[in-house]
This record gives sequence, C-alpha cells and structure tokens, in this order.
Amino acid sequence: MRFAENLVAWYRENGRDLPWRKTEDPYVIWLSEVILQQTRVEQGMPYFHRFVQSLPDVKSFAEAAEEDILRLWQGLGYYSRARNMHKAARQVMDRFDGVFPTRYDDLITLQGVGEYTAAAISSFASNERRAVLDGNVFRVLSRVFGIDVPINSTEGKNLFKKLADELIPHDYPGEYNHAIMDFGAIQCKPKQPLCPTCIFQLECRALAENRVHELPVKLKGKASRNRYFHYFIVERNGEVLMSKRGDKDVWANLYEFPMIETAEDCPMDDLYEHTAFKKHFERATLYPVGGMVKHVLSHQNIYARFYRIAEGIEVKEKKSQWRYFLSEKIDTLAKHKLIFTFWDKYGIS
Ligand code: ADE
Repeated sequence: MRFAENLVAWYRENGRDLPWRKTEDPYVIWLSEVILQQTRVEQGMPYFHRFVQSLPDVKSFAEAAEEDILRLWQGLGYYSRARNMHKAARQVMDRFDGVFPTRYDDLITLQGVGEYTAAAISSFASNERRAVLDGNVFRVLSRVFGIDVPINSTEGKNLFKKLADELIPHDYPGEYNHAIMDFGAIQCKPKQPLCPTCIFQLECRALAENRVHELPVKLKGKASRNRYFHYFIVERNGEVLMSKRGDKDVWANLYEFPMIETAEDCPMDDLYEHTAFKKHFERATLYPVGGMVKHVLSHQNIYARFYRIAEGIEVKEKKSQWRYFLSEKIDTLAKHKLIFTFWDKYGIS
C-alpha cells in the first residue's frame, strides 16, 4: 500500500508547523521530546519556549541549579523527567565534551533517554533510520494493519517494533516519524478518528472490519490507590511554613505545606484528634479553604484538603524540613501542582 510514501505525502500537506521541527539541534529536539512525553503539544509549547529561552544550550542546562529547572518544569508533572534531564545534561558535558550526541547508540546511554526518545532525536537531528513507537504510532499501525495483540504485552511490543522497523523508509526517516505522529494526532485520533477523509480508507483493516474503536488493545494496568492529604497553611508575621519533600518520591525536593496523610478521608473534627496533628499543632483551630481537590497521578488518586491555621499558634516539634518563607519567596519556590494551584488562587490571607 506504499504506506510510508502516502503517509509522508499526507504530512507535507497537513502536518503541523511546530517550532522544534525547524531545527536540527539535538539539544533543542531533546528538550521538546522530553517535555512532550505524557504532555499534549498545546500544553507543552509554552514550557518548550521557556526552556529554550532560559537554558539555550546543554552547558547552561547542566550548570543550572536543580531548583531552577524544577521551577521551569513546574506544572508539567512527572518531575523525575526534569531531574533525569539535569543528569543527562551533565553526562553530555562529562562524556561527550558538551556536544549533544545525535547517534541512537550514544543517546540511549543518557539518563532518562529511552528507545522512543533516542529514536526521535537521532531521526530528527541526523536522519538515522530509527522508528519511533509512541501512543500515536501504536494506534495508527494497529488500526491500518488490524493488529489486536495488546500494545503493552511483550508480544505486542516486539510485533509492533518489527513492523515499525520495516515500514520506516531509508530516504527520509525523520520526516516519516514526524508524519506518523501527526497522522495519529490529527487524523487517526483515539476517540473520533476522521475515517471518511482518511488516505488509508481502502486499505485500513480496522475500518473494513468495523473495529476502529476497538483498536489498539491495551491490557489493564494495576488499579489506582486512593490517598488523602490534609495540608495546613501556617502563617507567622507574614511568613508561611513550607515543607520540602524528601528525595525519594514523585514529588522529590518540591515544596508544599506541612501535611498529614490519612488512609481514609478524614473529616475536620477527626483531624483534631489525629496523633500527628496534636503533636505539631495542639489546640490550633482549622479553617477549611476551598473544597476537596482531586489530583490524578499514574496509579494514585490524591484527594487533598487545605486548612488555614489561626495565627498565634506556636508550632511544636517543627520537622527539620519545615521552614518559614516570605510570601514573595514562596512564589519562586518549585512547588508541585496541587500547591501552586492553591497558592495562585488563594495566596496568603
Ligand atoms: N509528541 C512527541 N513528540 C512529538 C513531536 N516531535 N511532534 C509532535 N508531537 C509530539
């Protein structure tokens, strides 16, 4: 069906004009690809521009403070991506003399660069023939070729990789990779694919078999766990108590308000009786601010509530990671999404 030729012809007419496609600088392409993992193009675009402007080359990225990188990243989620980028930039300085690699085999050795990212950068920056496999590609291939092997099974991954490696053309692999991603994003969309105007209408197995909405097949992942967070806004002379998270979890090193986690939802009256609450905030009065906020992470649903603590309370047994900050300073701290959304909306009273 001359899949690649038709796809690239479609792309030349219909592809998106995206800023990271106007460069062959592997550093800039790397920035865009890591930002766009798990992030929609419209959401990632302003971040991409901010990163390129603030940290125009890999040297500036490697030398930046982690706090500054996390702050630029703030709101994108999956903060380990930003921390891995920092390590990768340092690896480029140490191992590649500050020259960002363009070969797949070099790229794959960098922190946080997996098969997808290495294929994308090497094909876009130096036309290496490496097929990308992302959600868009799985969807397009599974539908056009009518493949119902689960995309997240070992068998499925091998099968789709083999097919993708066969389909990618020798002459213009980078353009082909852009084309298949755009085709998935614009035409062969997850929910309302534009089958009536599709260039593969005659060949598409899924369309012929009326299975477009059944493909691709994905095995169910593990169930999400519910967690309940109770945040306390403690003010003292215009300063607010902030807590820096440890360096282990998804929100490592980000700032938030002091909090208590409970296994079940916990009404305010029960919080007063909570051991940790009594230990730190004995006799404090709580004032709820806003309602419960749900924040979905991979495999976790977080339900957060926020309470102001009446001024004049002396916090007992302050934890080592707790510190008071002036309000203006809090604006500049790297906070995770629950916190900066709250802070933007309510600030201090
Ligand atoms: N998503 C991930 N990488 C992309 C790219 N290079 N262009 C468009 N969408 C993308």
